[in-house]
Amino acid sequence: MSEKVVLAYSGGLDTSVAVRWLKEERGYDVVALTIDVGVDKDREVLQTRAAAAGAMSYHWRNARDEFVEHFIFPALRAGAVYQGRYPLATALSRPLIAKLLVDVAREEGATAIAHGCTGKGNDQVRFDVSTQALAPDLRIVAPVREWGMGRDDEIAYAERYQIPIEVTKDNPYSTDENIWGRSIECGILEDPWVEPPEDIYIWTKSVDQAPERPRYVEITFEKGVPVALDGEEIDGVTLIQRLAAIAGEHGVGRIDHLEDRLVGIKSREIYEAPAATVLLAAHAALEQMTLSKEQIRLKTRIAQEYAELVYNGLWFTAHHQDLMAYIQSTQRYVSGEVRVKLHKGHATVVGRKSPKSLYDFGLATYDQGDQFDQSAAPGFIHIWGLPVRTQAQAQMLSENPDSEPAR
Ligand code: ARG
Repeated sequence: MSEKVVLAYSGGLDTSVAVRWLKEERGYDVVALTIDVGVDKDREVLQTRAAAAGAMSYHWRNARDEFVEHFIFPALRAGAVYQGRYPLATALSRPLIAKLLVDVAREEGATAIAHGCTGKGNDQVRFDVSTQALAPDLRIVAPVREWGMGRDDEIAYAERYQIPIEVTKDNPYSTDENIWGRSIECGILEDPWVEPPEDIYIWTKSVDQAPERPRYVEITFEKGVPVALDGEEIDGVTLIQRLAAIAGEHGVGRIDHLEDRLVGIKSREIYEAPAATVLLAAHAALEQMTLSKEQIRLKTRIAQEYAELVYNGLWFTAHHQDLMAYIQSTQRYVSGEVRVKLHKGHATVVGRKSPKSLYDFGLATYDQGDQFDQSAAPGFIHIWGLPVRTQAQAQMLSENPDSEPAR
């Protein structure tokens, strides 16, 4: 009896050829597993194709709710954006897919899992490291990393074994998508000087095509988690999908990033992340209102650390647990509403309110009703400036009288 391998099956050329290759070249019985992380796919078509490619059995998991609740919203609460630009859509999906591969491997009594990643990217690292953390006994097979076939070889391989592949128009791009965003690379995008052609975008309109009139959205947060859109309480998956459609219509969420991969390569990737762009901006705005400046300062640093951790495949670590404990604690008063104006590619926060707001009109106003005691300011400044005056006298002025610091 052959050993079983559970393959993460997207239904594309790579993973369809991989089904056959795992069977022919490695002698496995192949269990194909498609994980739905928020992209509509035809289950029947994929199941038929996997069977035609030689899969022994086929599984489908709807992981949308789990993805949103346990991966996307925690990253949103963290404010996780890699290198200040990438909201981590692809990166966040990997540990979840690894976990589900392991779950199915256990159900099926498989001895290995397999994925369709190349040997140059981040995703292989995320899959492998996550799998090793969860199931050190499982073998990991990465056919694309191992087989040394190019695209034409793969097509020939598919023809030889009559694997039904849609080799439609020559699509020169490599894409990955889930409910949080779309990643697009390769082809002409590999020239960092070239503006991305309009046809790579699916979720977002160009600024030219976007409506002349702005659209306003109101997002309600409960402890850092978005719970309502325009006053209507909805589940996370629906909220993200609706918001993505609205923001994408207004050209919001296109990101052109020249990023640093974990494997040391700089690469150019384009992202479409309309919902992520709006939610991250809205969430940050609410934090500005509900966190102290010290909390904001530290949390900004923690957010960067968290983004690195997600990007670098370290999801299943104690470091993650520790950072998340801090992040979660910071969110206890991050509740309220944020109004965002979507217009011609921009998502601008134009209003915010919170029952736990630290903004005090009586303290901030320059108009009637000012409660700030301005007569206390000189005393405060006297003490605040004390070490500055002391140092200026003792060091700067006395040592170098020609360059007085205060002039
Ligand atoms: N660069 C992104 C990351 O490492 C996305 C990777 C997948 N991109 C793709 N076009 N297939 O998370």
